[in-house]
Amino acid sequence: MRIVFLGPPGSGKGTQAQRLVASLGIPQVSTGDLLRDHRKRGTALGLRAEAIMARGDLVDDATILDMVKDRLAQPDAAKGFILDGFPRTLAQADGFEALLASIGRKLDHVVLFNVDRAALVKRISGRRTCADCNRVFNIYTAPPSVPPPCGGQCTTPRLVQRKDDEEATVAQRLAVYDELTNPLVDYYRKRGLLREVDAEGDLATVTARVTAALR
Ligand code: AP5
Repeated sequence: MRIVFLGPPGSGKGTQAQRLVASLGIPQVSTGDLLRDHRKRGTALGLRAEAIMARGDLVDDATILDMVKDRLAQPDAAKGFILDGFPRTLAQADGFEALLASIGRKLDHVVLFNVDRAALVKRISGRRTCADCNRVFNIYTAPPSVPPPCGGQCTTPRLVQRKDDEEATVAQRLAVYDELTNPLVDYYRKRGLLREVDAEGDLATVTARVTAALR
């Protein structure tokens, strides 16, 4: 299955993707995580992206499309994928459509995560991420519980707060979402691919709604 998770920062795309990879048997492909990995490794792309991400702006479309193309060519994505945080602009959506067409594939579903704005800001302020495996936690709603810590991927989660989760940067990320990403809602609705999900409620309830939307 080839799926896109669409929604504003903090709407739970990453959390739900991580909860669904095992049951769906396909990988989560997060462009945010790929960029953070470049940053961690100190690549030219990572260094360039660092300032852009810290401001809450978007990395240019051509770079993102190249990065996604490389990632989707990996063997684990052959059966499908959950794209989390991509596409984020109309140009990325067009580029992605062309990429899929070139390999004779189609997108199956686009899941839109609907969350009230005030709830988003609270979620983002409480978010902590494991520096080693990128597992997402929340000091208010999803603390790392034992056992198993860190979803069983790391022996001990090393929780860090993302630099772009500061209040001013979050406001800019939300403004960028409204201007550049929100038009994708209509783009995918017109193609009959959009599935809207109420993404408020506990994690298991939202997982059940997303699963139902994928049927
Ligand atoms: P990225 O990492 O993709 O960030 P984002 O899209 O802003 O999304 P988030 O990771 O903030 O939110 P999420 O929806 O995944 O929520 P989460 O599950 O973590 O991008 C970062 C930056 O990279 C961008 O700003 C840009 O600069 C660049 N970039 C990335 N992709 C790009 C692209 N395609 N083009 C150009 N630039 C790009 O949940 C949030 C918190 O809420 C967590 O703490 C979680 O535990 C909690 N939570 C989740 N669900 C619930 C629930 N149901 N109830 C209570 N709490 C919950």
